[in-house]
Amino acid sequence: MDKAQWNEWLVYLLNRPLAYGLLELSRRLGEVVYVPRVGYVISDAEIALDVLMDTEHFDSHSPGSLGFLVTQALGPYALLNMDGPEHKDLKRRLQEVFSSKYIKALIGSATNDIVDEFRGNLLAGRVVDVVEFMKDFSSRMACELIGVRVDPHNERGAYADMFALATEFTALAGLGKRSLSDSDLKNAKRIVERLSAHIRESYEDKDIRDESLTQHMRSCGFTFEEAKGVVIIVMIGATELITYGMPRVLTLLVDSRQIGKLRARPELLERAVDEGFRLVTPSNVVLRAVVADCQIRGHHFRKGRRALIVFNNIMKQEKHFPHATRFDIERAIDPRFRRLPFGAGAHTCLGTGLAIAEARKVLAALLSVEGEYEILSRRYNRGQTYPGYSSLLIRVRWPRLP
Ligand code: HEM
Repeated sequence: MDKAQWNEWLVYLLNRPLAYGLLELSRRLGEVVYVPRVGYVISDAEIALDVLMDTEHFDSHSPGSLGFLVTQALGPYALLNMDGPEHKDLKRRLQEVFSSKYIKALIGSATNDIVDEFRGNLLAGRVVDVVEFMKDFSSRMACELIGVRVDPHNERGAYADMFALATEFTALAGLGKRSLSDSDLKNAKRIVERLSAHIRESYEDKDIRDESLTQHMRSCGFTFEEAKGVVIIVMIGATELITYGMPRVLTLLVDSRQIGKLRARPELLERAVDEGFRLVTPSNVVLRAVVADCQIRGHHFRKGRRALIVFNNIMKQEKHFPHATRFDIERAIDPRFRRLPFGAGAHTCLGTGLAIAEARKVLAALLSVEGEYEILSRRYNRGQTYPGYSSLLIRVRWPRLP
């Protein structure tokens, strides 16, 4: 095991040792393993694709799916918990807000200032916490996309509050949880009320007429109640995954000593991002409810149970990714699986383009600072929803001015 592999292993082990052990054991036992009270653990890329594309036998709203918990917390209109023509129609309308041209403009206006500050600190040889930076970066971007206006006198505080709310919300779900308890529901209601307060202002502000998500939904005729669930799901998707994913991609680059190679060969940036997401799989598990008995590539799935698509197992499968645990920025990933960490089929991630644009922007800023990257300390996200670092302190030694 090299240093990069060892640290990635620690990220999982120290996050939720029991869950990690169970999923890792399932991977070793086979492509699909049924674990009582948990469900079918899927560790094969082709089977995962088949399941994600098959909406006849697997759905995202029945008991057992994540959507079922989302419905309890947010009501039935929240995209992630919808299926069929209504979901398709809503997604088509939302895609206008996620066009690559709009995202490009937005990412510049929302994050140029803080990226310049981050870069300036690195150039000056200061110690920087990459996780703190990513929290601010992703929350700003999410608020800009959604149209949330924050108090200009306390921008950082407002973004930190949004991030904390998103974290509390995702913590309500768990691998073994099939429904939210009364106390979970009380918590969910409190979080949703606070997030809704931020959203309502931008939805109702008659002076704003921009292309933000809230205004777009309003102009499409969605009521506030309809818009609310969708916007909160976007807010949740837009914050934690990229925040905890990117510092891990950076540590892979530093620990494997490939950051110099990437700096010398910037044409590898796209491959480096894909390879980073392949190993990091920020969204580790997606759930589906099995709603009809079926057979997939020789594996039987029984109605009433659930299926867990475990990206960390899938994206490290030797069959499809030779020397799978090795981080290699020159790796050419099979196009069928390149974007699999963002899901597939009807529920494919709405923010894929945005997440990739964000990753490129952060990596480009890091690469533009010459010098040797030093990782001073890493604190692991123990017991939290997403594996990763709760803090990652870095510094650049002997930076040269550009
Ligand atoms: C590295 C970052 C990200 C990863 C790895 C990721 C991964 C995923 C995955 C795997 C799904 C599919 C869930 C399922 O099939 O049940 C998903 C759905 C979704 N993601 Fe992301 N995501 C990321 C970033 C984002 C961002 C930046 C946004 C919004 C700005 C976003 C918004 C959404 C939404 C709204 C859905 C639900 C789509 C639907 O149900 O049709 N995600 N994401």
